[in-house]
Amino acid sequence: MFSRRVVVTGLGLVTPLATGVRASWKKLINNESGIISLKSSQPPNSNKLPNKNNSICLPYYEKEKGIFNELSSTIAGIIKPGKYEDGGFDTNEWLDRGDESRMALFSQYAICAAKQALNDAEWRPTTDPGKNRTGVCIGSGIGSLEDITSTTMTYNAHGSRKVSPMFIPRILINMAAGHLTMKYGFRGPNHAASTACTTGAHSIGDASRFIQFGDADVMVAGGSEACVLPLAIAGFAKAKSLATRFNDQPEKASRPFDKDRDGFVVGEGAGMVVLEEYNHAINRGAKIYAELIGYGLSGDAHHITAPPENGIGAELAMRRALSQAKLSPESIDYINAHATSTQLGDIAENRAIKSIFQQNVIDNNKKLAISSTKGSIGHLLGAAGAVEAIFTILAIYNDILPPTLNLHSLDDLEDSYNFNYVPLKAQKVDGNGIKAALTNSFGFGGTNACLCFVKIE
Ligand SMILES: *[C@@H]1O[C@H](CO)[C@@H](O)[C@H](O)[C@H]1NC(C)=O
Ligand SMILES: *[C@@H]1O[C@H](CO)[C@@H](O)[C@H](O)[C@H]1NC(C)=O
Repeated sequence: MFSRRVVVTGLGLVTPLATGVRASWKKLINNESGIISLKSSQPPNSNKLPNKNNSICLPYYEKEKGIFNELSSTIAGIIKPGKYEDGGFDTNEWLDRGDESRMALFSQYAICAAKQALNDAEWRPTTDPGKNRTGVCIGSGIGSLEDITSTTMTYNAHGSRKVSPMFIPRILINMAAGHLTMKYGFRGPNHAASTACTTGAHSIGDASRFIQFGDADVMVAGGSEACVLPLAIAGFAKAKSLATRFNDQPEKASRPFDKDRDGFVVGEGAGMVVLEEYNHAINRGAKIYAELIGYGLSGDAHHITAPPENGIGAELAMRRALSQAKLSPESIDYINAHATSTQLGDIAENRAIKSIFQQNVIDNNKKLAISSTKGSIGHLLGAAGAVEAIFTILAIYNDILPPTLNLHSLDDLEDSYNFNYVPLKAQKVDGNGIKAALTNSFGFGGTNACLCFVKIE
């Protein structure tokens, strides 16, 4: 249908494992977990706030000790402060003067990941044609809940004169894309998807369409999220979505496909890719990680939070991605599952995968590999699809299957789990390596997307 091909030439990550692509990947395949306890050993409000000078080095859950203590889920995958060279996140290394007051945290993570991706791609157009042909597609699921809640409290206590002029610019979801554009002067399409936990996948998929249709030659695309706040955790907990049984063993809480799973673990961070038209990348000698050859979308809302049990939306998204890619199920080597570690969701996705790939297992005795990297980082909501797309690209690039952490014993319900779920440790794939892979994302409201990446020869 489209003659313009889309390849990936740059990657950027801010994850609970580390800030940086290499550091995050290394920890991922070394079984590390980015999930920690938010509980403080001190009772709430017992200590005064740290002084301003070192507050920049403190994660926000440390600034007001105890604020998470009474919640039913007191764990999360959070971004660790520190220098980039040590895998930490430090705003001073990524932002310009004044940015911290202009940008909410989700925008700051987005800028950090986007800068990494652009540096990695060595794409920094200084002239008009290049800027004209470069676009941005960055979304977030929730945006800055933190600014909305704190400003609401300020307003209620002190009235309108205390509302910051930065309030609206900080909360708009498309401002991450806006800030990146201001820094680089890009004048291609400027877009921001907000489709709950499918945001990151939709951002990358939509960006690829802009390139295919000729609206741009280069797109910076991805998702960002920063809502590890008591209010957000309280809300997800009331919706019965969160893991609550592992508060004392945070690294064991996110256990996709494991029979003891009891909900997801909230995470934060950002993932950004640079997508580029194939010839544009070849002509400038860019390093190419993989080609994006399929993007499938579907809707299957039937309940506000739960997926349909048969996983029909997931199935349609995967089938459409395969059909666009012109690939048969047997050519897929790996699926990075959405599997968030909830009872219903993981089973529904497994059913959907079985409906497409089961026959292939029987016919060809091929062991399709499926893993959920949420076991290591939790669920990054609007950033999840983008971060997981990057893990999928790195799996193809390195011929390594990232593990599903905490998968000790598969669900023994009526569904047979007969794929290779890459339990507990990464697997190196010899021979032909990993040639083609899918990555799934599903969101509240029944919005689903699947991206298909292939190795470039
Ligand atoms: C990861 O965990 C598995 C299973 O517990 C273990 O066999 C493997 O050595 C670990 N890998 C690393 C790099 O620690
Ligand atoms: C940038 O795009 C505009 C609108 O398409 C066009 O008029 C202008 O000539 C372009 N500039 C360059 C340098 O390509």
